[in-house]
Amino acid sequence: MNSTLILNACMVNEGEQRTCDVLIKDGQIEAIGSNLQHKTADRVIDASGLHLLPGMIDDQVHFREPGLTHKGDIASESAAAVAGGITSYMEMPNVDPPTLDMDALEKKFARAAQSSVANYAFYLGASNHNIDQIRAVDPTRVCGVKVFMGASTGNLLVDDPKALDLIFRDSPILIATHCEDSRMIAANEERMSSHFGGDIPVEMHPLIRDEEACYASSSLAVALAQKYDSNLHVLHLTTAKELALFSAGDLAHKRITAEACVHHLWFSERDYPEKGNRIKCNPAVKSLRDRDALREAVRNDVIDVIATDHAPHLLSEKNQPYRQAPAGLPLVEHALPMLLELYQQGVFTLEQIVQKACHNPAIRYQVDQRGFIREGYAADLVLVDLNTEQQVEDESVRYKCGWTPFAGERFRARIFHTFVNGVEVFDGSQVITNTDAAGALRFNR
Ligand code: DOR
Repeated sequence: MNSTLILNACMVNEGEQRTCDVLIKDGQIEAIGSNLQHKTADRVIDASGLHLLPGMIDDQVHFREPGLTHKGDIASESAAAVAGGITSYMEMPNVDPPTLDMDALEKKFARAAQSSVANYAFYLGASNHNIDQIRAVDPTRVCGVKVFMGASTGNLLVDDPKALDLIFRDSPILIATHCEDSRMIAANEERMSSHFGGDIPVEMHPLIRDEEACYASSSLAVALAQKYDSNLHVLHLTTAKELALFSAGDLAHKRITAEACVHHLWFSERDYPEKGNRIKCNPAVKSLRDRDALREAVRNDVIDVIATDHAPHLLSEKNQPYRQAPAGLPLVEHALPMLLELYQQGVFTLEQIVQKACHNPAIRYQVDQRGFIREGYAADLVLVDLNTEQQVEDESVRYKCGWTPFAGERFRARIFHTFVNGVEVFDGSQVITNTDAAGALRFNR
């Protein structure tokens, strides 16, 4: 395999920035130092002026394969991911058929081995009836069990209290939850429809999928995890109120953790008039106060992980009236540039972004030898240019669905090179489709 020498990069890693050289060989980080220019390598990149980050590990994506491939597939969405500096992803089970057993998981692994440009892992979905599948899962191969405690896209929902109890008691691996109370949402929607008739404005979305519905479900998840000492990761928090359920502190000592997603850190309810159903997602984008509370929770370590919840839908589907329009946004290609724009705005430091988007997913899921720039670790690396601007437009996205909620934004950051296991898969303009580079994540459990 080829070797690559990166010289003079400003490395952002493990809470510090320093100028250094990195030698990549046989897929791994062979050496990190300040004077490696004498080393021989097949390729030398002068990275003066660029920042070197560990590749982002996205613990929540929907790549739509099998069954929903008109919206996206593993090949198209993983290509968009590496163009966005994401080198590993964990993919969700609400596909068709849903990923509820080992057989369905094996089919996904086989498909990803053929077509994924980024490293991959898959969740086993939970249902009211598959506790035996959950108990039998291989913790070294499966990233987690996904529990829809509120209904969203697809028909996965665990609403039987006995089933929930068994999952929280017996799951051998991390439980990742979507927390919204479906009954409260249905009652809110009923009220809105008696007020507005068939034509509910999208601005009502955060009042239908409201703070109370999120809080009721998140607090149930936390209570169950406390009761059974479960390993719980609550996905995509959206409200200030829910944050009180989680504690700040060192991730290594937590059994109950929280994630925020990039769109909830960027958009607020002020964006509905302009963006409409393009920012309709579950849980809903909420108030400016909630968005700012999430940002603060990232800074003070109540939020442990930043992810995308990349969820592509066609514009023809999104252009339907509010109630018919599906929820979800395509995000992987611009998630890291958006976070880096928040750095440019002074919202987060580079170290915080790397901690939440690269290190912490690796720690939380016990990913083997990734997520950090360390000698002996996999060379999943991203070089970013913070001295440039990119204008985001629908026309240039790589998603199969062909649009982005960030259209019209200017981000002062650009992904310049992405390496997966030491292989360059994005050169700043083209994705170099090399499906031999990527592999399945392994978990040290
Ligand atoms: O907005 C969302 N879309 N939230 C989810 O939980 C699911 C996702 C999807 O799959 O479309």
